[in-house]
Amino acid sequence: MENNHDFIATTMFGLEDILQKELIELNASNIKTGNRCVYFQGDQNLMYRANIKLRTALKILKKIKIFKAKKEAELYKHISRIKWYNLLSDTDTLSVSSTVNSKYFTHSNHVSLVVKDAIVDQFRKKTNKRPSINLKNPNLNIHIHISNNYCTVSLNSSGDSLHKRGYRSSKFHAPINEVLAAGIILMSNWDMQKTLIDPMCGSGTFIIEAGLCAINRAPNIYRKNFGFQNWKDYNHTMFKKIKSEIIKQEISFNGNIKGYDISANAIAITRQHIENMNLNKIVQVSGTDFFQNIGESNSILIFNPPYDKRIKIKENYYKEIGDTLKQKHTNTSAWLISSELEKIKTIGLKPSRKIKLFNGPLECRLLKYELYKGSKKINKSQNG
Ligand SMILES: C[S@@+](CC[C@H](N)C(=O)[O-])C[C@H]1O[C@@H](n2cnc3c(N)ncnc32)[C@H](O)[C@@H]1O
Repeated sequence: MENNHDFIATTMFGLEDILQKELIELNASNIKTGNRCVYFQGDQNLMYRANIKLRTALKILKKIKIFKAKKEAELYKHISRIKWYNLLSDTDTLSVSSTVNSKYFTHSNHVSLVVKDAIVDQFRKKTNKRPSINLKNPNLNIHIHISNNYCTVSLNSSGDSLHKRGYRSSKFHAPINEVLAAGIILMSNWDMQKTLIDPMCGSGTFIIEAGLCAINRAPNIYRKNFGFQNWKDYNHTMFKKIKSEIIKQEISFNGNIKGYDISANAIAITRQHIENMNLNKIVQVSGTDFFQNIGESNSILIFNPPYDKRIKIKENYYKEIGDTLKQKHTNTSAWLISSELEKIKTIGLKPSRKIKLFNGPLECRLLKYELYKGSKKINKSQNG
């Protein structure tokens, strides 16, 4: 069926189930999780909505062909059989990106070159002209995935990765990826009643993503560019209509979302980012030292403390975090993500959940601590 396309939503390791839930809410069909991706089916309308609304997707790829190939010539032949002139004209621009995990094709750059040649040659034969290459903002970004001899050709409908919501107007040294931050907020099952606090908010990613969830604002509603807007079949009227429908789905929020940081620069950056996302009435920030701050009960803490790799931290830093959580944040649940796999053991509290995730190339653990008055053990025996 023309309207029932196959899509692949790519994501980060560990977020597949959350993304699957988001796709169910979007009414996608035939949803199936894969490795750092979720497969689904739908029409053009769904593709536009997925790009604007999904919090945990990096890219939405539209699958156009699958085939088997073991040799360069076979790859070239299969790519040549696709009617590229239906998707591009010779005055348009294109780019090709490839990921390979194969004993037959070992260099992704080389695969991209073969694919580009096959497309360009098809145009040359037909019109004596050819589309040119534009790596930054092409009309069509073609994505090739090769797993052994199994090749998938897709069109990248997102363009730039969807974690680029458009709110980062200032550079910050160690931000968490927006998609990962949103995934953690969704994983935490925050009920929106408890105050959500990031006590080391840096550039504000967690509190901004939480603010967007709280009022049901789509993460990419303000984004200026999606890949599909450069496509031949781009339907501007449909895109505008979808955006205004999505805006109408926003809801009010009466709870609290707060961010703190010891650095005045971080607070200034966060304020700017909050402003960029129109969340001034939803999210509050102030400059406070985590170790001095008095805890707030009935709250949920979500944060990523400094990693030694990017910001130098003192020897017993994580032990102090554990002591502070225990002493000042009773009746709270705390979610902490860190790539300090050894140092987190010195926190000295027993996590109730431990989840493996990646922040970019860094392997991390997301840990959940239920903080009661006294130690968990004492609390249990008192109750029991
Ligand atoms: C890894 S960054 C957090 C990044 C943040 N999640 C983001 O997305 O931008 C760690 C932050 O902890 C802050 N920090 C370090 N020690 C602190 C303390 N004692 N109290 C509050 N903030 C602190 C640093 O200033 C830094 O902004």
